[in-house]
Amino acid sequence: MPKLTLDDLDVRGQRVLVRVDFNVPLSEEGDRRRVADDTRIRAALPTIRALLDRGGRAILLSHLGRPKGTPDPKYSLAPVADHLKTLLGNGTGRATRVDFVPAVTGEAVKTHAAALPEGGVLLLENTRFHPGETKNDDALAAEWAALGDLYVNDAFGSAHRAHASTVGITRHVRQSAMGYLLQREVEYLGRVLESPDHPFVAVLGGAKVSDKIGVIENLLDRVDHLLIGGAMSYTFLKALGHATGKSLVEEDRLEEARTLYERAGGKIKLPVDHVVATAFENDAPHRTVTGDIPDGEMGLDVGPATLETYRSILLKARTVVWNGPMGVFEMPNFARGTFAVAEALAEATRHGALTVVGGGDSVAAINRSGYEDQVSHVSTGGGAMLEFLEGKTLPGIAALTDR
Ligand code: 3PG
Repeated sequence: MPKLTLDDLDVRGQRVLVRVDFNVPLSEEGDRRRVADDTRIRAALPTIRALLDRGGRAILLSHLGRPKGTPDPKYSLAPVADHLKTLLGNGTGRATRVDFVPAVTGEAVKTHAAALPEGGVLLLENTRFHPGETKNDDALAAEWAALGDLYVNDAFGSAHRAHASTVGITRHVRQSAMGYLLQREVEYLGRVLESPDHPFVAVLGGAKVSDKIGVIENLLDRVDHLLIGGAMSYTFLKALGHATGKSLVEEDRLEEARTLYERAGGKIKLPVDHVVATAFENDAPHRTVTGDIPDGEMGLDVGPATLETYRSILLKARTVVWNGPMGVFEMPNFARGTFAVAEALAEATRHGALTVVGGGDSVAAINRSGYEDQVSHVSTGGGAMLEFLEGKTLPGIAALTDR
């Protein structure tokens, strides 16, 4: 690792500012809001626990959603604090004290941080409640830095954002290091990008080609096969002269899709059959078609022949990276393609392949498929993972102290 990591820091007796990515989905039950998926919170626990075990105190910073630089109860981290308390076992066994301060800056924050006991955790309110966060405001960064002694970034999901809590803050602390989650993400994604065993296969899906162009361009020379699914496949197919019926197509990307396909020299594989329906509804009449998609119907999943080909390619792979579902997996009638890819990745992993899954939808899909523990790595990054795979430097990592 070219950057300091948590294990390089002497945290005993220190207040450690930890940027985590607790930007998690919430559900509403009456007027109570709860954490609906705590994957990202659990992913940060090893770092928090290690800090506490070594005699440090943790001051956690995170954003949630996209509030407009001002407090907005809809985006409060209070439900996340409650959840974190249950995860860290408040009041049970070896209790960890978790405090939440409903403010981002000011006297209450300073007082709570100063009073934090050894082994204690303090979570501040949503960093984006302050307008300086997304502007990478230096005064705000300095104010946060003054609350602690050292800084750890464990927010891989936010590493592509140059914000006060991810970048600015590092200018005002003695040392800033990667947390375990960030380190693990960089190790796995770095291996995929820099030294993949071959055959190396990328599976890309989701609605838009435009979201994935940078990734396709950067992966094209590295992969042996690029398997495309999801609505983005219809843009490619239309660009190659196929009929796509009512399927979602990015008309303004047809030329780009055609150029990419030609440049790939056979590496890009597209669906040869599709599960099509007359409407974007689970119960709409649906069937499988081979080749062109007729007028009045839309593709909502890849078909069985496509799956057979993709599966056999995946089972021969030594490295696989997957981002984006193969179909509308939220609707049971169009979920087969996505779950079959999850299953193939699990099988490839059992045969020794390195398999990495990322992106909000693919992670939700693999969690739902039950295979999340049977792949090598599930990334907590959405946009951050894509930018990493595009080969971009992530500012939240670049800003940390060099080894
Ligand atoms: C994410 O969910 O991808 C990260 O938390 C970043 O959120 P953002 O796109 O609102 O910056």
